[in-house]
Amino acid sequence: MEDILRPLDVKSDGLVESMKDPTSAEGMIFFHADEGKPLATPWQVAISRAILLNQNQIPDGHILDCACGSGIQIAAYSAIFKRPALGIELNPQRARASAVNFRNIFKLRGGNTENILNKSIFLAADGRDGAGAIEKLSTANNGQAKIALLHLDPARPRNSRSHSLDEMKPRLDEIFDGWKEHLAETKSGPCILLDLSPRLSHNQRLEVESIVDRYWPEITKTWTWTSRGKGRVDRLALWLGGLANKAIARRFVRISPDLKQEPFIIEGGLKLDIGEDIPASSHRMPKRGEYISILDSALVECGLAKYWLAEKIDPEKTFWVESTGRRPQIHHEEKLTLDDKSERTLIQASGRIIEIFHQQLTPETVDGFVEQAIANDIKKVTIRTPLEPSLHPKIQGSFDRQLARRSGKREGFIIQHPNSEMSMLCVVE
Ligand SMILES: C[S@@+](CC[C@H](N)C(=O)[O-])C[C@H]1O[C@@H](n2cnc3c(N)ncnc32)[C@H](O)[C@@H]1O
Repeated sequence: MEDILRPLDVKSDGLVESMKDPTSAEGMIFFHADEGKPLATPWQVAISRAILLNQNQIPDGHILDCACGSGIQIAAYSAIFKRPALGIELNPQRARASAVNFRNIFKLRGGNTENILNKSIFLAADGRDGAGAIEKLSTANNGQAKIALLHLDPARPRNSRSHSLDEMKPRLDEIFDGWKEHLAETKSGPCILLDLSPRLSHNQRLEVESIVDRYWPEITKTWTWTSRGKGRVDRLALWLGGLANKAIARRFVRISPDLKQEPFIIEGGLKLDIGEDIPASSHRMPKRGEYISILDSALVECGLAKYWLAEKIDPEKTFWVESTGRRPQIHHEEKLTLDDKSERTLIQASGRIIEIFHQQLTPETVDGFVEQAIANDIKKVTIRTPLEPSLHPKIQGSFDRQLARRSGKREGFIIQHPNSEMSMLCVVE
């Protein structure tokens, strides 16, 4: 197979894995190869990231993705920056799928894109070989071969909860060795985005920083956590040099479930080498009349939750009872009022404690909880305690049946205190 693939010439014959991307408002269909689908960046993530990156001054030249998979991210960059692409992919069928997807994305979006499509090339090759790729780009492009931005989303071992940085394919140091001398420089260094595993530990993130510093000492770094909701970190990226901002060590991007709405962004925080900066959990007991909020766990994980909260409620009167896991819990004396719809997605639940029970919610104890819900004018209770999945519908059914017969007006939820057997009945205000 010819290893230079031009989006305008490449054929889709034989590519069988085609799938509609559910995150694309336009209903885009992408080709994948050799089970490339789970590796591909969802279109909504790719395009939101490209729009956000476009706020930076990116030097002239090609956008490079040296492990481009199905080519989704590089196509989104190219479409938004209006720059040609150099995509490299080791798997030849996937490289071809990339080039086809690239053409299809441009065709679907419309506009005058002939020039970009003409100048873009995809290589079925080893992305670590910067010199080889530059030579091919130069031949294909009348001697012009400048790299404006390097994107790297390496393959990682599947089904492995913890993996080491050495298992990334390709490895960061191999890519930096191959490409350092070919990257266009800005005042802040080259423009690089490393799309890393969201599961990297804090120490592994620091390890990534030290690898980067070996090539570009003290280069500016902005870590970016992206979440599509449900408390999950979907992407963890390190924006470097011309893409980073000295004043922004961390950024949290919450992508809206509404495909047409812009993401919600929080920026600031401490540099990672100062610490993880996640508040410690305290053993404080709940008090009736106080408020409880369960925060979005992805926001807490990135270390920006406490800064965001400090703008809403008095930090002196806010207590972190659980700062890890799926249900980070704070107790606070002041009510948390969020007017903005996007901001409200950062809270799983928030309400005032009206009853404290010295027992857990079980099928045996549920009637006592129902009684208090009725006494407090509650019409619906949401269970937010960690329950065995088989018990949940049973207990929820008890609440629903008994509360339906009353004429309560308020919404409530039940939550468990993380450091004891206590459960709290809260009312949403
Ligand atoms: C996580 S995927 C990239 C997905 C891509 N960001 C997208 O939007 O579709 C990583 C890709 O790196 C490729 N790869 C691994 N080692 C490589 C190498 N040395 N050179 C080029 N590609 C490589 C794998 O085949 C895989 O398709």
